[in-house]
Amino acid sequence: MASQESFRRGDAVIFIVPHKIQRKRLEDMKISMKKKNIPLAESLGPNVTHVVTEFESVEQVEKVLKKEGWELPKTAHLVVIKWLTECLKASKIIDVQQSHKLKRTEETESGDKEEDGNLTVPEWACQRVARLVHLNKKLTDAIEVLQEHAELRDGHQDYSRALAFRRASCVLKSLPFAVQDVRQLEGLKDVGGHVKRVLSDLLDNGSSSEVQEILNSSWYQKMKLFTSVFGIGPSTAKKWIDNELESIKDVKRNSVRSSDWRVIWGLAFFEDLNSPVLRSEADRFLSIVQQEAEKLLPGVIVQLCGGFRRGKSSGHDVDILLTHPKEGSELGLLHNLLLALEKKDLILIGHKEKSSFRQEILFQDFKLSMRGQLDHFEKWLGICKFPKSFQEQRLDSCLHNDDSNSNSNCLSDHAAQDLDSVKHCEHSEADTQTQTQGNSQLHKASQEKSSEGTVPTCHSLNESFDGTSYEPSAKKAKCGSSLDACPDDLADSERDWVARRVDLIIAPYSQYYYALVGWTGSKHFNRDARLYAQKVLGLKLTSHGLFDMAKKEALPSSSEAEVFHHLKLPYRDPEDRNC
Ligand code: UTP
Ligand code: MN
Repeated sequence: MASQESFRRGDAVIFIVPHKIQRKRLEDMKISMKKKNIPLAESLGPNVTHVVTEFESVEQVEKVLKKEGWELPKTAHLVVIKWLTECLKASKIIDVQQSHKLKRTEETESGDKEEDGNLTVPEWACQRVARLVHLNKKLTDAIEVLQEHAELRDGHQDYSRALAFRRASCVLKSLPFAVQDVRQLEGLKDVGGHVKRVLSDLLDNGSSSEVQEILNSSWYQKMKLFTSVFGIGPSTAKKWIDNELESIKDVKRNSVRSSDWRVIWGLAFFEDLNSPVLRSEADRFLSIVQQEAEKLLPGVIVQLCGGFRRGKSSGHDVDILLTHPKEGSELGLLHNLLLALEKKDLILIGHKEKSSFRQEILFQDFKLSMRGQLDHFEKWLGICKFPKSFQEQRLDSCLHNDDSNSNSNCLSDHAAQDLDSVKHCEHSEADTQTQTQGNSQLHKASQEKSSEGTVPTCHSLNESFDGTSYEPSAKKAKCGSSLDACPDDLADSERDWVARRVDLIIAPYSQYYYALVGWTGSKHFNRDARLYAQKVLGLKLTSHGLFDMAKKEALPSSSEAEVFHHLKLPYRDPEDRNC
């Protein structure tokens, strides 16, 4: 028990900005402060010396203060919750270190003219702001066709060509003006001669012949189609084209069946899986996952990641990251959660991967893994049955306020409610345009595994599953039985649900904020941030953490802001990571 004398109390008075902090957590903090005699101010007066917040940038706090009509005392420290936690741990007011201070989002977010007239932007995409809605969409869409084409070709040089196109497109997304003449791009080293030629074409003629040729080519169209099948990458897609297959129907008719469960179910439910998942569907499913997970493990954190977290209004799947502040308590959660979801008849098929994480992995050279995005978390990759009613927008708007901590706040309020009683509400979207399947193509293209053998019928379906598969509906899916259906028959049957891709990922809390950054993306943001960490800081960044390879030391983080801080990067909201 802390004695009152143990405090270097001075005149320290602490005010906690309540926004974004889960109610229960806030109560607990206040109780602990009282117990330990740490002076707490109920309002933000001039006597306050430390303002504690869960917000991730000074600007965000300033916005809220303004809204509430509060004024930040000039001499007060603006600190992250970590500071208060450390005070409580130490039972005294500790000094404010650099890592406790809330950071300001860097001013130089976009392009600027240097004295010599040349345009400069920060060198790395992870240093810039890239939003879904930007001023050069027509140009970036065209450049990303070139990128996708290179990715689909999948040859020796194609990966670096694809990356070069993506870099150029990323720079254009960050520009504070709509490009009207390629001469405006002088000085941007990521925009090379090839891209400039294409941009010139676009700006002068309204279209680029090179891009148009690709879009019109039947090879590209077929590759896009085939790689949009769950589990199919460029190499199998090429084989199908070589075998003169033209359509998904052809693929099905020719009994080209993979032994890979993803391909079997991906083909059967091709239409469902290639129609965009709506934000309302993601929210409804998330809410159920939250309810069930909370029942199994009170205090669990359930976070929607991926494109939805970056503000997209639709996506190709639903990525959900789960953790619990008490490290180790998350073990066994996934198994039980899947059983609970199955009980609610939400699971169609999927595969559970055990955690393959070992401490040594952190220090292994990761040059090879730069290209992929594989991590070692325990996870379930599968297909769920989303009732069609999920497509109605019904959840409370707090679900749309993205952040890692407060959404569990919103959700825990909802968790007690019956979903059906949750009131209708409209939500505003960052990107009002319907997303094309473009991104999902890229995703699929990177998914291919070498195990794509062919299996003629679906009799052998269950044999290909190991004990980690959840295939409740598949168990019933025996061909030949008059009662039960093959995946194809199930897909064709009258049903009130849509098949949707879902990823459930379990992260230990000590790795959670790195996992959050990794699973939020974008994929290019990760690729760029990892390369930047390696080249500029000599650090290894993964979804498991940040490591100093020389010192064999990990740099733990207890917020996303801290991850950015360790990386010496200005903090970027998820909406700004759309590069
Ligand atoms: P997605 O491929 O789902 O991308 O991966 P997305 O941005 O959400 O796109 P849509 O909207 O579904 O089409 C989400 C994030 O998770 C990372 C990816 O790098 C991306 O940033 N990820 C994905 C991994 O880290 N590991 C994986 O195995 C898969
Ligand atoms: Mn996604």
